[in-house]
Amino acid sequence: MPKTGTTWFKSLLYSLLKRSDNRLSNTPLRTHNPHELILSLEITIYAKDKTPDLTNITPPRLFSTHLPSASLPESVKNSKCKIIYVTRNPFDTFVSSWHYYTKLKNVNNNAAQPSDIDDESLERPEKVLFLKYEDLKEDGALQLKRVAEFVGYPFSKEEEKQGMVEDIINLCSIESLKEMEVNKNGKCDPDFDNKSFFRKGVVGDWVNYLTPAMVERLCKIRDEKLNGSGLSFCTATEHTEL
Ligand SMILES: *[C@@H]1O[C@H](CO)[C@@H](O)[C@H](O)[C@H]1NC(C)=O
Ligand SMILES: *[C@@H]1O[C@H](CO)[C@@H](O)[C@H](O)[C@H]1NC(C)=O
Repeated sequence: MPKTGTTWFKSLLYSLLKRSDNRLSNTPLRTHNPHELILSLEITIYAKDKTPDLTNITPPRLFSTHLPSASLPESVKNSKCKIIYVTRNPFDTFVSSWHYYTKLKNVNNNAAQPSDIDDESLERPEKVLFLKYEDLKEDGALQLKRVAEFVGYPFSKEEEKQGMVEDIINLCSIESLKEMEVNKNGKCDPDFDNKSFFRKGVVGDWVNYLTPAMVERLCKIRDEKLNGSGLSFCTATEHTEL
C-alpha cells in the first residue's frame, strides 16, 4: 500500500544489499531518490516498455510494486523471487495518504488492498516476509537483521561489530534522508516536489488529525476489512487520547 513506509524501506533494502559495492558515506542515496534506486514495476518499468529486458539489470534485482498480490503474474508466486510486504497502521496510512495526495494534482486514487499476502507469508516463510512499519520503527536493528537473513545477505559478526546495522539505520532515517540535497530541493515531476516523500515518518500521528467520529468510522472499516486476516495493529491510543 502506498504511504506505509515504501520510500524508507527502499532506502534500507538498497543499502543492505549494496553494502559491499559502496561505502555508506558514498551511497547513491545521496544523489538519487530511493524510488530511482528500486524501480516500480507498474509506475516506471512496465509503464515505459511493455516487454522490458530485466536481465539487463545487475543482480540482485530489486523491484517494488503497489499492486495487490492478486494482480501480480503467477510467475511472482512460482519463481524463486522473494517478496517483502510492508504494512502500517491504517490510521497513520490514511493520514499520510491524505497529506501526500493533497500535494499531488489530478490523481485518481485507486488504492490497493492488502490481499492474501499475509497467509502466504505464514505458509512459505522463505518466500514472503511480512513487515510492519511500527516494528521497523521500534526495533530497526532487529528487523533489518531479519530482512538481511531473509534476502540471503546476513550481516557477518565482523559487520555487526563494526556497527554496520546501526549505520544503515541511521543513514536511512527520515531525519537523514530529509536533509540530503537530492530529497530537499527540486521536483521529480512538474506537480511534485522531491521533499514530498519525506514528511514526518512517525507512529501515531493520526491522533493529531482525526476526530473521534472519524476514528470510530475508521475503526469499523478497519475491523471489517481485516476481519479474519490475522492482522492487527496496536492502537491503544485510539480511545484514550481523544
Ligand atoms: C529531484 O529528484 C529527481 C529524481 O526524482 C532528481 O533527478 C533531481 O536531481 C532532484 N532535484 C534536486 C535539486 O536534487
Ligand atoms: C468477522 O467475521 C465473523 C465471521 O465471518 C463475523 O461473525 C463478525 O461479525 C465479523 N466482525 C466484523 C467486525 O466484521
